[in-house]
Amino acid sequence: MISIIDFGGQYCHLIARKIRELGVYSEIVLNDVSAEKIKKLNPDGIILSGGPASVTKKDSPALDGNILCLGIPILGICYGHQLIAKMSQGVVSSKQVKEYGKNELRIIKKNRLLSGLKNKEQVWMSHGDTIMKLPTCFDVVASTKTCKIASFENNALKLYGVQFHPEVVHTPHGEKVLRNFLKICNAKKDWNIKDRKKLIIKELQHKIKDDAVIVGVSGGVDSLVASSLLRQATNKLYCVFVDHGLCRKYEAEYAKKLYSDIKIKNFYIVDAQELFLSRLKGISDPEEKRRIIGRTFIEIFEKKVKDLKKKHGKIKYLGQGTIYPDRIESAQASKKAAVIKTHHNVGGLPEKMNLKLVEPLKDFYKDEVRILGKELGLKKEWLWRHPFPGPGLAIRIVGAIDDNKLRIVREADYIFIEELKKSGQYYKIWQALAALLPIKTVGVMGDERTYDYMISLRAVTSRDAMTADWARIPEEVLDRISTRIVNEVPGVNRVVYDITQKPPATIEYE
Ligand code: XMP
Repeated sequence: MISIIDFGGQYCHLIARKIRELGVYSEIVLNDVSAEKIKKLNPDGIILSGGPASVTKKDSPALDGNILCLGIPILGICYGHQLIAKMSQGVVSSKQVKEYGKNELRIIKKNRLLSGLKNKEQVWMSHGDTIMKLPTCFDVVASTKTCKIASFENNALKLYGVQFHPEVVHTPHGEKVLRNFLKICNAKKDWNIKDRKKLIIKELQHKIKDDAVIVGVSGGVDSLVASSLLRQATNKLYCVFVDHGLCRKYEAEYAKKLYSDIKIKNFYIVDAQELFLSRLKGISDPEEKRRIIGRTFIEIFEKKVKDLKKKHGKIKYLGQGTIYPDRIESAQASKKAAVIKTHHNVGGLPEKMNLKLVEPLKDFYKDEVRILGKELGLKKEWLWRHPFPGPGLAIRIVGAIDDNKLRIVREADYIFIEELKKSGQYYKIWQALAALLPIKTVGVMGDERTYDYMISLRAVTSRDAMTADWARIPEEVLDRISTRIVNEVPGVNRVVYDITQKPPATIEYE
């Protein structure tokens, strides 16, 4: 196992996933991890990630110094590279030329970490600080024109550093660097998601024994795969779908059919549309909407748990489809002052329900969940469905919600998705959505002047929703979608296509 210590870099998950793709299990830990904890985790190697801070500042994210002395091989990337140097009495400066983008790396000394690379390699750099002087017994092994110490090694202490990012595609041979590091660590390549299925089911059986499990499900991938795994582990499984009135068109019917297809007998739909919509009336603040939906969801779910307990006896476990990034991000979010959006699907269900959590997917990335689902015999159309947020269409109507706006955005979404499927575009896209902008513009239909709402279509490609690019959908497909929405959805007279990347724009509109 490789421990990745997170210094807040946007590439941290990318590093963890790359290591897993190379066959070695990896886990992210926060930078305040102690040497004691690392010792207990007993990783074969440690990677210190990049991060936006400057090691030259007093309150920048630090590392327990004893970690450097554990004798475990450590690779520092970008911020991590500078941190190792600084903590070992080297000198880091923020006054040097800053480097962003592609650069040419020249290898100046044969070494294990960069072995197999050509003497000149393209690498991706993104840094403001630079190591000016290495600690004693450290060797420079590669440079760029503007960064003399672009990579170092200290074989005796097993400390290595790269200023560039080996985990991104713009460093074409970066994978070799990570592979070399795994070799230095003597890490066994035994992480194979396909083989995990049996092991997970066995662990679930061992944990659950003869007890009952309840799961709050949507029509989405994570709760589907989690329920399918739990179904293999117990017969006493209750799946509850709460219809909050903010779902896509035909969603409850879809979920009912889906759970019947995977042979889950105890599937319940709770129709709570009226309650949710009445509580959301007049609310325009996005976080307030999320809070109301989160709280109401818990209330309804709790009531259903009580009903089921009365009918069927004790329920001991609450199953959740929490995946790895959810878990890491909520741990980080609880430490950060500025939370961009509170995603209510993690840790929202209260302890007072007296249920113990069981999260079969808590160690997996989305693409791993899909592989696992395939191993369970689940269909592609179920597994490759686009993600859909817990608060649903509420965060796709900018501002206050009403029945008319809900109808508009639901119909527009339905047409958009239908056309993407028909044209073969759907599976090329990470997520597509229609959002209603709360402004009216003038149009003309037939001979009449109209004054109606505007729909913004957003479709993005992404690997994990942390960063995203707008999808290049062919013009004729966009044309068809726009024509259909304006013709078939009363109340809309204008359709626009969103061409913003994330960052700076998020995927959802609220
Ligand atoms: P953003 O809008 O932050 O979205 O770029 C990233 C991913 O998260 C989903 N999302 C949510 N999921 N509850 C959820 O369960 C939420 O409140 C929420 N907000 C955003 C979004 O659909 C995208 O996949």
